[in-house]
Amino acid sequence: MFRYIGNKTKLLPEIMKEISLSVPIGSTVVDLMAGTGSVSVALRQEGYRVIASDVMTYSKHHLVTQLLFDRAPQFLELAKHVPIENIGYERVLGFLNNLEPKMGYFYNEFSPEGTPANGSPSRKYFTSNNAQKIDAIRATLNEWIENGWITENEESVLKHTLIMAANDVANISGTYGYFLSSFNKNSLEDIVLKPVSFITSGTINNIVLQGFAEDISSTITADLCYIDPPYMKRQYAANYHILETIARGDFPEAVGKSGLRDWWDQHSKFCTKTGIRDSFEKVIDSMNCRKFLISYSEDGLLSINELIDLFSKHGKVSYQSIEYSRFRSNKSKLSKDLKEYIIRLEKE
Ligand SMILES: C[S@@+](CC[C@H](N)C(=O)[O-])C[C@H]1O[C@@H](n2cnc3c(N)ncnc32)[C@H](O)[C@@H]1O
Repeated sequence: MFRYIGNKTKLLPEIMKEISLSVPIGSTVVDLMAGTGSVSVALRQEGYRVIASDVMTYSKHHLVTQLLFDRAPQFLELAKHVPIENIGYERVLGFLNNLEPKMGYFYNEFSPEGTPANGSPSRKYFTSNNAQKIDAIRATLNEWIENGWITENEESVLKHTLIMAANDVANISGTYGYFLSSFNKNSLEDIVLKPVSFITSGTINNIVLQGFAEDISSTITADLCYIDPPYMKRQYAANYHILETIARGDFPEAVGKSGLRDWWDQHSKFCTKTGIRDSFEKVIDSMNCRKFLISYSEDGLLSINELIDLFSKHGKVSYQSIEYSRFRSNKSKLSKDLKEYIIRLEKE
C-alpha cells in the first residue's frame, strides 16, 4: 500500500501463521485497528471473513475498496448526470484527471503559491499545480456526493484512488507531520489518478466499521480479534492529517506553520501511558470473542511484562518475539535490532 507507521506488510507471514494455527479458514476475524488494510487483505485472500475497523476516515476508504469489492464499481447513477461515454471506473478517473485546475483550499493552505488563512508562510506539501488539481477533484467529488450521484462505496473507491495519487506526489519524508523545505523529485511529477486493481479472491461478505475500538468492540462477534495498536506517543490523526482531509472532503482551519487540522476528535488513548491499559481492557471485556492476537513492539509504551500482566487478568497468555532489523541513520544511537511481539490471549 503506502508507507504508514506500523504497517504490517513485512510481518504478514508470522501474523497469518499465528491466525491459521488459532482458527480455521472461513472463520470471522476482526482487524480492529486496520490502518492501510494490509492484514485485512491477507485475511480475505486466505479465505477468512473479515470485520475491519479503524478510527480514521482514510482507513475506512482503503478498507471498503479492498474488502467490499471484487471488481470495479459501475457508477450507474453518475452515468445519468455526467457526460462520460461508456462509463466505468477508468473513464471516471480519466474525467477527473482532465478537470480544469482550481485555486481552492489545498492550493491556499498546502502549496507555495497559496496564502494560508492563519497568516503563516506558505506551505510546501504539494506543488501549486498538483494542489489545484486536488482542489478540482475534491470539488467535483463533493458535488457528486451532495447530489447523490455516487454511492458511499463508490465514493470510497474514488477517495482511496485520490489518496494513493496524493501520496505519490506529497513533498514529505514519510508522514504529513511537516513538509520538506524544497520539493523532492516525486513531488514535481504531475498528480495522476491511477486505477487500482481490485482483489478478486476471497469473499466480499466482509464488514467495514469506523470508530474507536473501545466503543465498537461491544458490537462485534467474532472467532478471533487481531489488534495492532499504535505503540508510541505519535498520533496517527496528526501525522496523516492531509489524508484525513482528503478522505472527509472538508475544509478545516489549518493550524500553525504545518497546517494541521484539529485532530482531537481522533486522539488515541492507545498512544498514552495513562489510557492504554483501560482501552485494552474495554476492548477485551466487551467484544464477543474468545481469542485475541496482539501485535506490539519492544519500543512501545508498555513493556512485554506489563502487557502480559495486563492480559493475564483475562485468560491464558503466551507470546512469540520476532527479531527485526530496524532502519536507522548512521549516527543513530538506537540498537540495530528490534523485537516485535505477537501476543496470544485466550479469554477464560
Ligand atoms: C499500527 S497502525 C495499524 C497498521 C495496520 N495493521 C497496517 O498494516 O496498516 C495502528 C492503527 O490504529 C488506529 N487507531 C489508533 N487508536 C485507535 C482506536 N482507539 N480505535 C481504533 N483505531 C485506532 C490508527 O488510526 C492506526 O491506523
